Amino acid sequence: MKKRTTKLRLGVLASGSGTNLQSIIDACANDNIDAQIVRIICNNPDAGALQRAERAGIPRCCINHRVFTGRRGFDAAIIEQLQHDAVDLVVLAGFMRIVGADFVQAFPQRIMNIHPALLPAFPGLQVQKKALESGARFSGCTVHFVDAGVDTGPIIIQAVVPILADDTEESLSARILEQEHRIYPLAIQLFAANALKVEGQRVIIEQAWAGADKLRAEVLLNPPYTTKTI
Ligand code: GAR
Repeated sequence: MKKRTTKLRLGVLASGSGTNLQSIIDACANDNIDAQIVRIICNNPDAGALQRAERAGIPRCCINHRVFTGRRGFDAAIIEQLQHDAVDLVVLAGFMRIVGADFVQAFPQRIMNIHPALLPAFPGLQVQKKALESGARFSGCTVHFVDAGVDTGPIIIQAVVPILADDTEESLSARILEQEHRIYPLAIQLFAANALKVEGQRVIIEQAWAGADKLRAEVLLNPPYTTKTI
């Protein structure tokens, strides 16, 4: 595993309130990840993520998808900005636009996304509601590399969140978001440490990576097994 000599340069794309962005800003500031955010791009001028960027003093801009007639022009403007900033890894943090094939080709296996469900279950939108209505006992969140499909790229890390009897879409979303804030910085640090190798649809995590013991597999049951319940 080759150690990186300079900090990984991140370009973060966000559309909304930016709590995932904040977890990455904090992880960079606390040296929990060997990376620096060199650019934050929002497609929505009112995104809370822009204010977070401003507070943190990070270069930021709005590239509003509404001023483009099609996705290609919008994607091209973002690619140009990210290439200008010499970004090593593109981080989609609550970015609610689908990135096109040109975008994926410009940054092969160098775009990550976070999704609020356990992929490959529940791709797309409103997935916390769909998970709740499906009757599943677990949902969670996934960090994956972005490929040409929607939420189909190789999975890097997931966190499992039980769905409780009295859950609403809001309560489940909030518990999932808490886990998102834990796993996204970890996935970025795995990338920064050159610990990720993609083989087809699978992501291999180099065991030599110092934090590998944190990723020990654990068995989850929901509802939990107790002798009283049987
Ligand atoms: C997060 O739950 C993220 O997983 C989701 O949007 C939310 C953004 O929250 N992303 C998607 O659904 C992507 N399709 P944030 O702005 O507070 O980070």
